[in-house]
Amino acid sequence: MNEQYAAHVREMQERWQRIATEEGFDAVLVLAGSPRVSFLDDFEYAFRANPHFLAWLPLTHHPHCALLVRPGERPRLWYYQPEDFWHLPPTDPEAWWSDRFEIDVMGEPGAWRAALPGAGASLAVIGDETGPDGSIPGAEHNPEQLLMRLHLERTRKTGWEIDCMRRANRRAVAGHRAAERAFREGRSEFDIHLEYLRAVRQNDAELPYGSIVALNEHGAVLHYQQRERVAPEPSRSFLIDAGATEYAYASDITRTHAGDSGAFADLISALDTVQQDLAAAVGPGLDYRDLHLRAHLEISGVLRAAGIIRVAPEEAVSSGLSAVFFPHGLGHFIGLQTHDVAGLVDDHGAPVPRPDGHPFLRLTRKLEPGNVLTIEPGIYFIEPLLSRWKETADATAVDWAVVESLAPCGGIRIEDNVLVTREGAENLTRDAFAGQGG
Ligand code: GLY
Ligand code: MN
Ligand code: MN
Repeated sequence: MNEQYAAHVREMQERWQRIATEEGFDAVLVLAGSPRVSFLDDFEYAFRANPHFLAWLPLTHHPHCALLVRPGERPRLWYYQPEDFWHLPPTDPEAWWSDRFEIDVMGEPGAWRAALPGAGASLAVIGDETGPDGSIPGAEHNPEQLLMRLHLERTRKTGWEIDCMRRANRRAVAGHRAAERAFREGRSEFDIHLEYLRAVRQNDAELPYGSIVALNEHGAVLHYQQRERVAPEPSRSFLIDAGATEYAYASDITRTHAGDSGAFADLISALDTVQQDLAAAVGPGLDYRDLHLRAHLEISGVLRAAGIIRVAPEEAVSSGLSAVFFPHGLGHFIGLQTHDVAGLVDDHGAPVPRPDGHPFLRLTRKLEPGNVLTIEPGIYFIEPLLSRWKETADATAVDWAVVESLAPCGGIRIEDNVLVTREGAENLTRDAFAGQGG
């Protein structure tokens, strides 16, 4: 038995028992989910398990499983292991994770239905109600308050979860190093992506999200999703936003590289300084909205120093000009979901509004130890946003000649994953880079 995982399961049991009891439920059933099949065909999309199931169990490739949690009892897992000659069935449960569960192996999906608590028991179900396993007569599906409280608990990572995220960072960093090498060799986006996968040793479906592998102007497309098969000539700049998973726990890392020294390389290094300042400011009690607004000020300082804008940072923020170059949020919670849950509510689940004029910020909470979040400032040359600004009365606040000279390099984002500790913060990403040759 893995001791750290055992402690995690004990903590999960304590949290779920307390919340289920307080919310008036005798038991909670959590469903792994079932694969989706393409329309008019029999091919399955890549399976993504219910994150609340994954919070209990390292079973990422195990559809149809179900876990019943009852106060005072060992959690009971129905483990789906069919006789199947079309697919390779899951292996037997492994001792390192299975010892803390009562396990029933089932050969048919839904075999757990007959064993559910009987009439009179109050049962909550956490899972996709629309799937074939999903609907259970007499049960309450995804009760709002229960779900919100479980989401809030997921923002407080256990030692096991933090360790998974450290490993997910190390795995992704190996990929980032391979990707940078491939960029410097002049390879295409597609080939860089393959080098990334080879180094990470995960396939696309195992990654937490579709990697963003962007050369030159493509760096200005925030969620650039294509991968050109042919390398551009020249290959001036490279933005890669790519993570990895460890038992479904995600890392989400961005680096930007310049082909040559010069103004764009200098801008990367100025933004890197800002990014490290912001990451170092993370600590318990910090209102993330304040950090996001500080990022706008500091980015505006960089834009001014680079001669891209002509106005003071305060004015660039208040007029909305900073958002032309940095239109997204500073970051988000991360865990079993890349954009993890409960970023926009307080400890009681009440919404915490975004600052006016910042519609894309995904995290408005006060931070507490155990939170893991991203710090990802950016500076981009996004044609439609720039054109819109050019039409305003403030057009002269921008030096358009400087913008034009930098736009062929697309944009810059630098993104780390940061753990809030009692004393301050631990930068999981920088530590992973430092542990792999600096
Ligand atoms: N890779 C998605 C994000 O950074 O939020
Ligand atoms: Mn991110
Ligand atoms: Mn990212």
